[in-house]
Amino acid sequence: MTYNPLSVYKAELDQSDFVRISRFIGQNYGIKLPDHKRIMLQGRLINRLIKLNFESFKKYTDYVFSDEGKVVELQNMIDVISTNKTDFFREHLHFDFLRNKVLPEFVEKGQSRNLNIWSAACSSGEEVYSLAIVAEDFFGDKAGLDYSILGTDISTRMLEKAKTAIYPANAISAISMETKKKYFLKSKDTKASNVRIKQELRSKTTFLWQNLMENDYAINQTFEIIFCRNVLIYFSKQDQMHVINNLSQKLKSGGYLFLGHSESISHLNLPLISVSQTVFQKQ
Ligand SMILES: C[S@@+](CC[C@H](N)C(=O)[O-])C[C@H]1O[C@@H](n2cnc3c(N)ncnc32)[C@H](O)[C@@H]1O
Repeated sequence: MTYNPLSVYKAELDQSDFVRISRFIGQNYGIKLPDHKRIMLQGRLINRLIKLNFESFKKYTDYVFSDEGKVVELQNMIDVISTNKTDFFREHLHFDFLRNKVLPEFVEKGQSRNLNIWSAACSSGEEVYSLAIVAEDFFGDKAGLDYSILGTDISTRMLEKAKTAIYPANAISAISMETKKKYFLKSKDTKASNVRIKQELRSKTTFLWQNLMENDYAINQTFEIIFCRNVLIYFSKQDQMHVINNLSQKLKSGGYLFLGHSESISHLNLPLISVSQTVFQKQ
């Protein structure tokens, strides 16, 4: 059969293929895809069909779940299915709480020289670098104290962007001129109008692929601060509990867990108490 690109554009993701994909994504990555998201999913996957020359979603779905497809295509599917919206200093109250309460408390306690922060579900890195800016401003003049930030996500495309640390200049329009000068480099190509995070901050960060739904995380450290924001909103109550339980085990005693402003935890038998808007401290 000769390939006709027009037939691809008319291709439709039928209910049975939608269910195969949505069940797999829900069970393995937590992301809920209820029936009303079928057309959205179809729209997100169509470019994969075009790229791979599949004329139907059925063929694409068979391929992605084949032995070869799981190795070659599954990650691309995750990359297009995940919702990666993020911003510098998103939900800024959390950064104020960090600056005014968490960081001074860490210095007062004096238990450790290095503050470990984890941005779980970091998308393209804006959250990681916002954390780095606050930490650098705070620790910059404090000899002997340091910090490191781990960013993790299931989207390799976003992790690559995060590592590169290049953003359009308008992504930082709300940031003060002083902070821009201190921590961002302007692109030499004036037409490109991009900015890059300075090496001084990049050197404090590490990025890893980590699926929060797994039972055992490939992260062998505990943290004073975990940000897990605007990801659990896509999960079922049961999966939210599973992830929060895992994260709680990765928090040091006295450490803080930050969830997104529209996310909350209740009726959980965990040593986490609410200390500010969607901020929890481990007892
Ligand atoms: C909307 S972004 C939130 C980014 C950032 N935390 C913020 O609040 O701006 C959600 C991110 O969660 C990631 N994600 C979704 N399911 C995940 C999972 N099971 N494990 C790890 N990350 C996941 C997505 O790839 C996406 O980049």
